[in-house]
Amino acid sequence: MYHIKAFLCCLMASTFLFACNAEKKQVQLTSPNGNIALDFKLSDNGIPEYAVKMNGRSVIAPSSLGWELKNASLSQGFKVASIEERSVDEKWQMPWGERKKIENHYNQSQIVLQQGEQKVTLTFRAFDDGVAFRYEIPAMADSIFLMEEKTQFNFVEDMQAWWIHADYDSYERLYQNTPLSKVPDANTPITFESADQKVFASIHEAALTDYAGMTLKKEGDLGFKSVLVPWPDQVLVRAKGELKSPWRTIQLAEKAGDLITSDIILNLNEPNKIADTEWIKPMKYIGVWWGMHIGHQTWTMGERHGATTEHAIDYIDFAAKHNIPAVLFEGWNTGWENWGAKDAFDHITPYADFDLDKVAAYCKEKGIELIMHNETGGDIPSYEALMEKAFSTYQELGSNAVKTGYAGGIIPRGQYHHGQYMVRHYRKVVETAAKYHLMIDAHEPIKDTGIRRTWPNMMTREGVRGMEWNGWSDGNPPSHHLIIPFTRGLSGPIDYTPGIFDLKYERYDNRIAWNTTAEIMDEARINTTLAKQLALFVTLYSPLQMASDLIENYEGHPAFQFIRDVPCDWDETHILDGKIGKHMITARRDGNNWFLGGATDEEARTLTVDFSFLPKGKKYDATLYADSEETELKHNPGAYRIEKIEVDASTKMNIPCAQSGGFAISVFEK
Ligand code: NOJ
Ligand code: CA
Repeated sequence: MYHIKAFLCCLMASTFLFACNAEKKQVQLTSPNGNIALDFKLSDNGIPEYAVKMNGRSVIAPSSLGWELKNASLSQGFKVASIEERSVDEKWQMPWGERKKIENHYNQSQIVLQQGEQKVTLTFRAFDDGVAFRYEIPAMADSIFLMEEKTQFNFVEDMQAWWIHADYDSYERLYQNTPLSKVPDANTPITFESADQKVFASIHEAALTDYAGMTLKKEGDLGFKSVLVPWPDQVLVRAKGELKSPWRTIQLAEKAGDLITSDIILNLNEPNKIADTEWIKPMKYIGVWWGMHIGHQTWTMGERHGATTEHAIDYIDFAAKHNIPAVLFEGWNTGWENWGAKDAFDHITPYADFDLDKVAAYCKEKGIELIMHNETGGDIPSYEALMEKAFSTYQELGSNAVKTGYAGGIIPRGQYHHGQYMVRHYRKVVETAAKYHLMIDAHEPIKDTGIRRTWPNMMTREGVRGMEWNGWSDGNPPSHHLIIPFTRGLSGPIDYTPGIFDLKYERYDNRIAWNTTAEIMDEARINTTLAKQLALFVTLYSPLQMASDLIENYEGHPAFQFIRDVPCDWDETHILDGKIGKHMITARRDGNNWFLGGATDEEARTLTVDFSFLPKGKKYDATLYADSEETELKHNPGAYRIEKIEVDASTKMNIPCAQSGGFAISVFEK
């Protein structure tokens, strides 16, 4: 299915160079369709500045750039040494993703700045869906130590913003919605909407490689400044050779949904480095996981141990019977009783009641893929010492994927999850995994910046407040699922782990598992209807997509048919309707079939699906899984209806959704 040809970019690049104009202090760059314009200039005292317009409207006011190194201040006194311009228009194919064909079309200005003998190269790109820039500082006699990156993003209007705080260790927070003037600091992506809803924007970064993650800090009334996550000694980035920043990105769109279908982040990454991609395959999975989060089972060995050989066999049988290609067993390896201590986890030795060889052999016999689990507890030296041996063992066992985890503070202490030290580590894991033909699903990761283009075994990651929070906290509110596709989702695939059918899980005593208050545990549940859980398989994209409930809650359930049918690799994606934090409808195509997901926040509403995206003249068999008249979020969230309908391009369907409800539709060509 995954041909090498998918990786061979269909190169249709028309690249050309313009003459340099060293006298110039100003550069105007427009996107290929002319809708987006970036103006660069040097201020009177030689400070580099840029500003951005969309459809003639100023969005980013003049914003300055500058760098403080340990031994040099590169903040002013620059002259333009040279300017080089070019245009690129090429098409390339993703081996897997939300769509296959991608267009990379932009105009670029590369400006070499000079301050005395010191050079800094700035590269600006204008796409039809946003702008991006990066800087390079050439290698110096000694290492370069970056102490401050002074990139500003000054907005013109006080737009609405959806944001999470600039936490250096976690993205697992609930999003806040305030005017941007009230955002004190933020992680990226952060998303904005103008008052007249004509401008949607998002700030993020692309190709984060051997650098520190960027956060934003309020500066002035309507501005932000970049703040990079530091090393323990307060250095932000260390470079032995040249210092090359990730791309700073400003996505721009006229509709919220167009932010989601933008490919700007992927386009700014390097092409694929893995020659043979046959072994990389998107897949749904089930596993021994939710049982631990609701206190029904344990990761440690004991009476309630989840990952026993017996349970594993049940899960493998269920997967084989129900078109689920892969299984995950957390708590299979020794060390969970020492979680938090140094060198706690052994990623090679299984617990005595988990016969790894037998489980792996049974997977092979049944044609099911085995996803290995590596919780590190944040202990990086310990994991790196074992990793190579562990990964080669997994390959020998026939496994093709690893879910990693970094719950807890990082060892060495003083390092943060999102600093350069960890950016290097996360990449090392991806590259080592590629060597052993393993795909990666990273939990507590560094944010996605599109590196799946370069390393297509970097499948999915958490970095979001996912399903687990519904097991042991006050949970995720109904609007959460309508915010994350427009914020966190802009960076790449999300391992949210949807698909809980037993939404109140009252049969299980979760109080025994977690050290939190009885009130929280009594209230803990999933704050959606069952139909909305199905919708998330479409609205939240992940190439490794978990159906996360215990299999006993799926067995014999008619709505499980949708999970059996829905793929997690697509030819095309459309956002048919979307209002950030309120509601959305997503349609994705796989071959001749389509799958739709629609969802609402705490407000019950009727969503209308217009099927005019279907090719004209063709008839389809659609199955609708929706909230029923009996569905009620608080008391009866599991009620649903299934309806079979014939649809074509002229069909319009009104679908009533309960509070925090939704729908899923499978559409098969007749
Ligand atoms: C946190 C991860 O997000 C979750 O999926 C996992 O089960 C636990 N850590 C244990 O590794
Ligand atoms: Ca987590």
